[in-house]
Amino acid sequence: MSFSILGTGMYVPDHVVTNDDMSKLVDTNDEWIRRRVGVGERRLSTGETAADMAYFAALRALEKSGCAKEEIDLILVASVSGEDISPSVACMVQNKLGVTCPAFDINAACSAFIFLLETAAGFFARGKVKKVLIIGAERLSRIMDFTDRSTCVIFGDGAGAAVLGEGDGYMDAVLHVKGGDDVIKIPQFQGMSPYFKGEQIKPYIHMKGQETFKFAVSSICHDTKELLQRESLTWDDIAYIVPHQANRRIIDFAASMLKVPKEKFYLNIERYGNTSSASIPIALDEMDQKGMLQRGQLILLTAFGGGLASAACLVRW
Ligand code: UT7
Repeated sequence: MSFSILGTGMYVPDHVVTNDDMSKLVDTNDEWIRRRVGVGERRLSTGETAADMAYFAALRALEKSGCAKEEIDLILVASVSGEDISPSVACMVQNKLGVTCPAFDINAACSAFIFLLETAAGFFARGKVKKVLIIGAERLSRIMDFTDRSTCVIFGDGAGAAVLGEGDGYMDAVLHVKGGDDVIKIPQFQGMSPYFKGEQIKPYIHMKGQETFKFAVSSICHDTKELLQRESLTWDDIAYIVPHQANRRIIDFAASMLKVPKEKFYLNIERYGNTSSASIPIALDEMDQKGMLQRGQLILLTAFGGGLASAACLVRW
């Protein structure tokens, strides 16, 4: 038994931070950010935690799916920016919802929403669950270095959720990891042990932009081609590609290398920036709200980021 996506939900903070606002913090400007990244504005939390945003997105997904919270058998959350190492964001969502099912977090950075889907597939295959709530939730502003113009202009906060129920909508996925911390790293506080001699690196997002860029373009091309080949499909069979929203130029490059019309890629980075694990479920929910998604359509999700990890999956809507 596999699953289908029964409903999606999203939440972004009300507080809009424009590129002009960012230019008051670091030496940057609206023209550079739009041209090099594709971001026009982002939402940044003025009080919501990652767990709060996850909860609000979950409520919306439950409502849209017509699923009562008591029906949920498992909660899976992806986040790199939860407030606490423990309890996990998933445990806090379980608490806020007032339900009793198991709940845990997965960390696969920006690719994590697809890792969540694949993890959920295992629970469905074993007949352990009938309904699963999955959420990507990020308060990246907690781990953004607001003195580093090469990273802070890129990211935003938000959450996206989906309720999964038994069905045959989830078709296949590819997951890839090239482990290492030299390209993207988000260090934790190293602790106060007087014995530990390791270096304390600033606990913010550190990223080598150009190397990440190349990894992103090659991952999209490699992962999506691998998936289509395995399922004996062509690009004509795919209604939409929903990529992780990291940089509009990454999508432009990938589209031209794959010879796929740019219009097949859904993009909302202009309004939210890069919300890491939340970017794909936010995009899916927006597409659904706009009436773009029809039952039976094939949707291809593709993501890449810290780890380094990348993933792609095929969903029949
Ligand atoms: O979600 C996780 C995955 N993340 C990604 O996929 C991100 C991938 N990487 C990128 O999106 C891009 O590499 C960045 C947006 C991070 C950077 O864009 P870039 O076109 O690769 O710029 P660059 O690092 O090559 O820098 C070009 C110039 C530099 O100035 P000089 O040395 O040529 O004088 C930078 O100092 O742009 C400068 N620069 C900026 N200028 C104005 C860097 N950041 C800024 C800025 N405003 N915010």
